[in-house]
Amino acid sequence: PEIVPWTRPMPVPPVLRPVVSTAKQEVYRLSIERTTAEILPGLQSPVMGYGGQFVGPTIKAKTGRKTLLLVHNKMDEAANVHLHGGHVSPEHDGHPRDLVEPGRTRLYLYPNSQQGATLWYHDHSHGTEAAHVYLGLHGAYVVEDDSERHLNLPSGAYDVPIMLRDIQFDDSGNIVVFDDPAKRTVVLANGVPQPYFEVAARKYRFRIINTATQRVFQLRLTGGQVTRIGSDGGLYAAPVEAEEVVLSSGERADVVIDFSKYPVGSRVTLTDSVAGEVLRFDVVRRASDPSRVPAVLRPLPALPPSTVDREVDLFYVFKPNERPDGVINGKVFEMDRVDFTIKRGTTETWLVKSSDPAGVKHNFHLHLVQFRVLERNGGPPLPNDAGLKDTISVAAGETVKVQATFTGYTGRYVYHCHFLEHSWIGMMAQLEIVP
Ligand code: C2O
Ligand code: CU
Repeated sequence: PEIVPWTRPMPVPPVLRPVVSTAKQEVYRLSIERTTAEILPGLQSPVMGYGGQFVGPTIKAKTGRKTLLLVHNKMDEAANVHLHGGHVSPEHDGHPRDLVEPGRTRLYLYPNSQQGATLWYHDHSHGTEAAHVYLGLHGAYVVEDDSERHLNLPSGAYDVPIMLRDIQFDDSGNIVVFDDPAKRTVVLANGVPQPYFEVAARKYRFRIINTATQRVFQLRLTGGQVTRIGSDGGLYAAPVEAEEVVLSSGERADVVIDFSKYPVGSRVTLTDSVAGEVLRFDVVRRASDPSRVPAVLRPLPALPPSTVDREVDLFYVFKPNERPDGVINGKVFEMDRVDFTIKRGTTETWLVKSSDPAGVKHNFHLHLVQFRVLERNGGPPLPNDAGLKDTISVAAGETVKVQATFTGYTGRYVYHCHFLEHSWIGMMAQLEIVP
């Protein structure tokens, strides 16, 4: 079945309703289910969905108020939930070994002790994370922060998550897992290929999340710039006008687009350098706009002096007649091996690089903390490296110097390539934070 562009609206995933809500905490129930979704016209594709939805519902949290997430696995196989970008204790981090077995329920506790940020949640079950995320186990998790409210950025109906991912189907509409990423030509915005989105002629905040398991999006707006206001871990110190937004798997960009620049009736298209047109904004009505983008947003936390240097090298090891291994510093992931022991509270500088022999692109994601990019390839960071980051792209031959402070919890966390087909074949390792 052929996709006719701009025939379906882009859905805004429903916001999950808490079953209990107090000033201190909110309790949610979330299922993990197999279901079907009409992604291609007239065809139901088998998918996996949090809350039975493709894509999952948006969870809205507030800085300083806990989220308790009761997850019930209705599937016939184990799965779990990881809050990507969350500052979370190790037992609630969705470690690859911490699974929710079929028929079981488990509680995840998210303290939301971090500033406002666009996070997302996804499956992280050992050996199946790439397939599960590809089949639909992901959703947006938005941390709102009262201390950012005075900024008066676009909010409410004018604050919209956009999850972008690629996907491949066979002729009967089944999703082909682990197809060659080069063949994944269909790009979905919130689960729909080439949708339109009706907007008023005013400012909108879009929280763009790359939920693809193995892809870099290079996004542009036809005939205009976007105002980038934040990254993985929250707001920038100041807004930046951007011609292009580059996101590798797992990365986020908060942008403001001011549609008042366009007459009613205009159509503005979001394009990707490879996939072409992915989403069309249709300016359908005038509107008053009390929101603004102040010149000063939120200062970034000061960078304390770093006392430990480490190096992380991500690459493929090719073997005759076998699939390659994905390795970090030469080793494939093992559940019981700890590669870095870190004293809690330490600030460290990591040189993250890829000496991949075949030029395969990788990226790098660190659990628990937001880090800062100090240097890329010995020079200044790229525009896309700015702000608080938990995921960065690392192409073959690149070196990226990042700095992180390991505050809060002790215990074991993983770091890995967020091209999940790579972490799935071993490109993941474990650190342990000790008192
Ligand atoms: Cu978004 Cu370890 O993951
Ligand atoms: Cu990789």
